[in-house]
Amino acid sequence: MMAGQLWAWRNMNLREVRGLPWPDRLCHHPEMPSREDALATLHEHTKTDSLRRHGLAVEAVMRSAAARVGGDPELWGITGLLHDFDYEAHPDEHPFWGRAVLEGQGYPEEVVLAIQGHANFSGVPRETEMARWLFALDELTGFVMAVAMVQPGREVARVRAASVAKKLKDKSFARTVSRDDISQGTAELGVPLEELVELVVGALTPIAGELGLG
Ligand SMILES: [Fe+2]
Repeated sequence: MMAGQLWAWRNMNLREVRGLPWPDRLCHHPEMPSREDALATLHEHTKTDSLRRHGLAVEAVMRSAAARVGGDPELWGITGLLHDFDYEAHPDEHPFWGRAVLEGQGYPEEVVLAIQGHANFSGVPRETEMARWLFALDELTGFVMAVAMVQPGREVARVRAASVAKKLKDKSFARTVSRDDISQGTAELGVPLEELVELVVGALTPIAGELGLG
C-alpha cells in the first residue's frame, strides 16, 4: 500500500467512526476539527436562528465554490460555516475575538486568515482563492436570501440574476447588505455577478427548508 493510500484509508476510517457523510471523508486536513465540531462552535456562540442560517447558507455556497475551482469542499465549507461565529456575542470585536478561539481549536491558518480577511476593516489581505470567494459570497448570499424572501412561496430557486442586479440598485431593499463589499468582492474574483448569483441560488436550493425558504 502506497503512503498516500494508507493515509486516505486511515482518514476514511477515522471519519467513518465520526459518522460523517461520504464527501467529508475526502477532507485534506485530517488534523482539523470536523464539521460537527465547527457546527457546535457556531451554536455555542450564536443563538439566533437568522445568524445560524447565515452560517449554513455561506457553508453551502462555499462548498459549491470549492467544487467549481477545485478547492477542498470540506475546508471551504467549514470556513463559511464559522466566518461570523463570534459576531453575535462580540459584535465590536468581530472577527478578532474569534481568531484565538479558532487557532486554539486547531483550524489551519488559511481558514483563520480567510475569516479575518472577510472583514474589510481587519486589514488582513485576501491572499488565497478561498479568502476571495468568502468575501465575494458572504454579503451576496445574504442578499440572495433577502430576494428569495419576497418571491412567491419564498422560493429561492425562483431568484434570477437580473432581479438581484436590479434590487442591488434599490438602496431601500435589504439596506444592511453592503453593496460596496459585493462589487469589490466580485471585482477581486473577476467572475461576473450573474454567475455568482447562479452559484448561490444553486447551492441554497437543496437546503432551502433549513434556511426558512421554500
Ligand atoms: Fe457573513
